[in-house]
Amino acid sequence: MSDIIRLKAPKGWINDPNGFIYYNGEYHLFYQHFPYAPQWGRMHWGHAVSTDLVHWEHKDIALFPTKKQDRSGCFSGSAVEHNGRLHIIYTGVDYTEEDPENINCCLNDEFTAAQLSVISENGYDFDNMNGKFTVIPPIEDKNMGCKNHTRDPKVWRGKDAWYMVLGSTVNKKGRLLFYKSTDLVGWEYLNFAEKDNTGWMWECPDYFETDGKGVIVFSPMGFLKDEKPYDSVAICALADFCEETGEMNISDNWQLIDCGEDLYAPQSNVDKDGNRVIIAWARMPEPFEKNRIGIYCIPRVTEVRNDHIYFRPHPNAVKLFNKKISSPVEAGEGGYRLSLDMKNGDAINIGGYKLSRENDRIKADRTEVFAGHTEIKCVFETPDIKEGDHLDIYVEPNLIEVYINNGEYVLTNTVYGLSDGIKAENYELYAVSE
Ligand code: FRU
Repeated sequence: MSDIIRLKAPKGWINDPNGFIYYNGEYHLFYQHFPYAPQWGRMHWGHAVSTDLVHWEHKDIALFPTKKQDRSGCFSGSAVEHNGRLHIIYTGVDYTEEDPENINCCLNDEFTAAQLSVISENGYDFDNMNGKFTVIPPIEDKNMGCKNHTRDPKVWRGKDAWYMVLGSTVNKKGRLLFYKSTDLVGWEYLNFAEKDNTGWMWECPDYFETDGKGVIVFSPMGFLKDEKPYDSVAICALADFCEETGEMNISDNWQLIDCGEDLYAPQSNVDKDGNRVIIAWARMPEPFEKNRIGIYCIPRVTEVRNDHIYFRPHPNAVKLFNKKISSPVEAGEGGYRLSLDMKNGDAINIGGYKLSRENDRIKADRTEVFAGHTEIKCVFETPDIKEGDHLDIYVEPNLIEVYINNGEYVLTNTVYGLSDGIKAENYELYAVSE
């Protein structure tokens, strides 16, 4: 089974991207997966492989619960290559008490979380029975971290050692924990970083350097205080990390990863051309065709210019949309791209999804294509845009990604029941030519 451009689970549920890596000439992308039903449950790692980041082949499930420490789920984590082998580091979860009505969930938020590893010789075979080992046991020191809410190891190679960042919480305040290792097996705790008014627990951290700047990405829980269900949202900020001390200074000028507030838990890695590429999960309130739920966004190249973080559609995706069409009905798999300029006062309607520009902000309204989900936010807007008027809008039946000025800001929304009608002027449509 395969996917083009945006990865989806072949069946059931998908959430965070995991273990994203270019290894032995292929991109491996793993994902949080519950294969049995379109709802979150005991986590497995699904697996897809690509040579270009846009044509994905689904492979067998890579990780599934086998050990006491991951019996309740193989949570998020990352992958690195060391001496030719693929090292996966992830969070294993063990529920203290299962919900008797759904043993895939726990009761009272009571569980322990440990950081585990498994090494693969080829990126395809994972010894779930005998190959898993614990690298960081559940944290006992309450002043340092939390024994259950500590997770999502992201590992990277520093100057002369490996580093890991974990998301955690102390006193209802989110924090990052930093560790160091010489062999990816023994890990030494270095330091932590936190910030006021930034949510109670930080999920899925990712630190990288690009264009000479350090960038921290994480998904703080309880960040938006708008009483809506998606009060956790992925953010990013410039940051400096000191390898000697493990200290991180995080800028106060954070940005949303995506102004549509549906994208969550992004993970990044470097593509074969050296671009820093990020992929994120778009949360969905109900399944789409084939009873599946969750979609990944188009891979995005992340760049920093003048202290602003850009998310541009990956060139391999852009170049696929090269067949000019005159109506969305001509688009096949992969959907279509609508390109146009939008000035203050302009408004368009893409199959029921409304976009407008006022006071230099792009505003989106999905009310008409999100029926039955009024509890979730439907109207979004960007900060002030400064770099021009151009919009590239990538549309597929359940996901709309609006790239403004080639990634100055991006606004992505999940939608249901989009029609083929477009109300706009002076626009061009492109479909994927295969
Ligand atoms: C984020 C998250 C992670 C966790 C995983 C479990 O969406 O909650 O923190 O590892 O999903 O599926």
